[in-house]
Amino acid sequence: MPPSGSSPESLTPEEAAARLAFMVEAGVTEAMAEEAQNRYQLSPAPQAPAAAVAAPRREVLSEAPREGRRAPIARMEEPAPQPMRMQTPSTIPLEEKQAALSARSIAADCRTLDELREAMANFEGCSLRYTAKNLVFADGNPNARVMLVGEAPGRDEDLQGKPFVGPSGQLLDRMLASIGLDRTSVYIANTLPWRPPGNRTPTPAEQAICMPFIEKQIELSSAEVLVLVGGVSAKQLLATDTGIMKLRGRWGTYRAGGRELPALPIFHPAYLLRQPAQKRLAWRDLLALKTHLDKMPPRN
Ligand code: URA
Repeated sequence: MPPSGSSPESLTPEEAAARLAFMVEAGVTEAMAEEAQNRYQLSPAPQAPAAAVAAPRREVLSEAPREGRRAPIARMEEPAPQPMRMQTPSTIPLEEKQAALSARSIAADCRTLDELREAMANFEGCSLRYTAKNLVFADGNPNARVMLVGEAPGRDEDLQGKPFVGPSGQLLDRMLASIGLDRTSVYIANTLPWRPPGNRTPTPAEQAICMPFIEKQIELSSAEVLVLVGGVSAKQLLATDTGIMKLRGRWGTYRAGGRELPALPIFHPAYLLRQPAQKRLAWRDLLALKTHLDKMPPRN
């Protein structure tokens, strides 16, 4: 796995340690790049003065293709699959359609995240709330520029009332740390705020009922970039049927509430715990996120 992204010299000791920890966990045992590096390649020379007539040999060499540089990840430039509208209405019973409409009108009335949390805590239209122990609204910093949206709380999250606190949350924390982020610099929520019994996949009706809440939560947050953690979140918020294997690492656009945000689907950490070899791709996606964040102009 290549140590690319930001040069190691620019990392603080803590960032370097976090990055190394993630790589070791991902199974990296050798410091190798994906492509051979020409360590004899001369580094780029300083700009020659305009008056210089005969370019010194060093400069000519520096114009040769740089073998050691990794090609940009082509996939990032490929167009993302075209979004399709979610086909929920025809598959959802009338009562649940009405619950979804009611959720939409309740969410529309909320002016702040506190109001939204309160409204969701009082909402009775989703049967999941009766099997869950707690509403899992959010964690992290609501003023952060990055918002992560996962799928739904699991057992630990349900018990603690906070997203991503179980084993997959701990891996998510290490993934964030590897690119210098933590819960003070991201805001975290889920497409569903209640745990589905036994962690089963949410039904289309449950997703449709809770969709207005996560849309409003995104709208009321300060997020400028979304990270869609796992296939359920990515498909739902990008309104596509394309699977996470194709979606991951490709920037899409999330549109709701008059906002358009760049959105990056990544593998869910629970999947990475089952398939550690896929951390290699997850690392690429984290680097893509870091590159994007590094290029963002500072906030006013
Ligand atoms: N998985 C999720 O998608 N969200 C959580 O909060 C925990 C596990």
